[in-house]
This record gives sequence, structure tokens and C-alpha cells, in this order.
Amino acid sequence: MQLISTIAALRERLKQEHSIAFIPTMGNLHEGHLNLMRQGRQHGKCVVASIFVNPLQFGPSEDFEQYPRTLEADCEKLADIVDVVFAPAVNEMYPVRQSVFVEPPPIADEWCGAARPGHFRGMATVVLKLLNIVQPQVALFGKKDYQQLHIIREMVAQLNLPVVIVGGETVRAADGLALSSRNQYLNTVEREEATFLHQTLRDISAKVLGGARDFMALQHDAVTMLSKRGWMVDYVAICNQSDLLPADAQQRDWVVIAAAKLGRTRLLDNVEIGLDA
Ligand code: PAF
Repeated sequence: MQLISTIAALRERLKQEHSIAFIPTMGNLHEGHLNLMRQGRQHGKCVVASIFVNPLQFGPSEDFEQYPRTLEADCEKLADIVDVVFAPAVNEMYPVRQSVFVEPPPIADEWCGAARPGHFRGMATVVLKLLNIVQPQVALFGKKDYQQLHIIREMVAQLNLPVVIVGGETVRAADGLALSSRNQYLNTVEREEATFLHQTLRDISAKVLGGARDFMALQHDAVTMLSKRGWMVDYVAICNQSDLLPADAQQRDWVVIAAAKLGRTRLLDNVEIGLDA
């Protein structure tokens, strides 16, 4: 595995590669990331990971400064899994003040976008920059960040980017909690409670599969229950998988998405519901 920190050196290293699978990350890697990287091997002869905590996607009161930066440990984990790790400094990615941005689709203002204004614009902008730098044939993103994956797919389709986007399944702890770099902010009590978010989404999914169709009531009950247990809920929403708009009874593929805070930790999760599955 080769660690590269400049765009020029990365381009030189990749210029002869014609089958690149790319996994962008912000580091502090866990099994969810490693799983995506292993999956990358099925999609490309050369597997490239990036590690870059992107300031553009953090709001002024968010955790950009505290976000765990663990490059050395990350590289150890990746030694036998990827061919190249691209870990640029902020100045390398943003040598001038970024004034050109990707304008994401309107859905970027809903759900997580409503709680984190500008987040998806910063995310889409860095992902486009990274795709332009690495020029992979395939790029892989985790389904845990369901809205992020949807926006990236829209960007790639609507801007005709020559890359195939693959979504990787969420990797979970034994009690169901979706793995996330932010889980380490949870204290012991919060960590025990955290599993309840996934349980709540699974309960909703089971009810919908059992025939329940009063989506507003299901969402409302879930928010009430989580709030009573001490969660600060941003949203629990049953949506169409295709556009992430509120679920339309004519469609067959839905997803329950949620974001809620336990103490200072904001957790995301989702459960897909396929009526034909
Ligand atoms: O999901 C993430 O880790 C980040 O949002 C991404 C896609 C690497 C862009 O900074």
C-alpha cells in the first residue's frame, strides 16, 4: 500500500491504471469502511481509498475540529486491503478559497440537510473534486449515509460523470447499532441506548410489511417514543427509495430513514423496505 498526499503524485501513480475502484472516507476507519474497500477489489484492479476530513461539509458549530484523525492507525488497517491511500492536507484540496460548488438537488435541503444547512453542498463538492482527481471507473459509498448516497447518484447521473456508483450494505455491531466513526463519542449508558434507534426502524419496517399504511402515525409514534427515552430527534421518515420523498403508496420500495442525537452524538440509520423482496 502506498500513501500519497499530493494530487500530482497521485495522478502520476494512477496514470497507467485503467480499472480503479475508489472509496472516499474521512478516516477513523471501522469495519464498515474496510468492508467497502474489500468490496472495491471486486470492482477494480487498483483499489484507492481517500482519507480527508472535508471542512466544507461541516457547519460552524459542528465537530470538524474534534473529528477523530487517526491516519497512522488507518494506514495499518489498509495495508493489505488497498493499493493506494490518498490523504491530502486541506491546502492541497483547497489551495484557494473554494468559490465554485456543486448545487445539490432540492432533496439536499430535507432530512439531514434541514438540520445541517450546506452539508450536502460541501459533501458533493468534495466528492466531485475527488472523482476528478482519482478518475475511477467505480466508486463505493456506504448505505448508512442513505441521503448522501442518493445525492451522489443524482450528481453523477445529472452531470454525466463517467463513474459507476456502488452502495455498500451497512455494517452493524452485534446489537444492531450501525458502525460509525461518531459512535466513539457515546458514553457507556448512551452506547447501550443507541441500539434502540435501529430497533425502532425495524419495528416500523415490520409494521409496514404487515400492512400498516398510516405512515404519519408510525413516524409520530417513533419520534414520541425516542424523545421519551431522551433522544433529540431530527426526523424519522418513511420515504421512497427512488427519490427520498415521503412514501408514495403506489411505490413498492421504501426506506425508513432517521437521525437523532443522544447527548452530543448525532446518529443516523435506515432500514430498506421492499414489498417484493
Ligand atoms: O461519508 C463520508 O465519509 C464523507 O461524507 C465523504 C463521502 C468521504 C465526503 O467527504
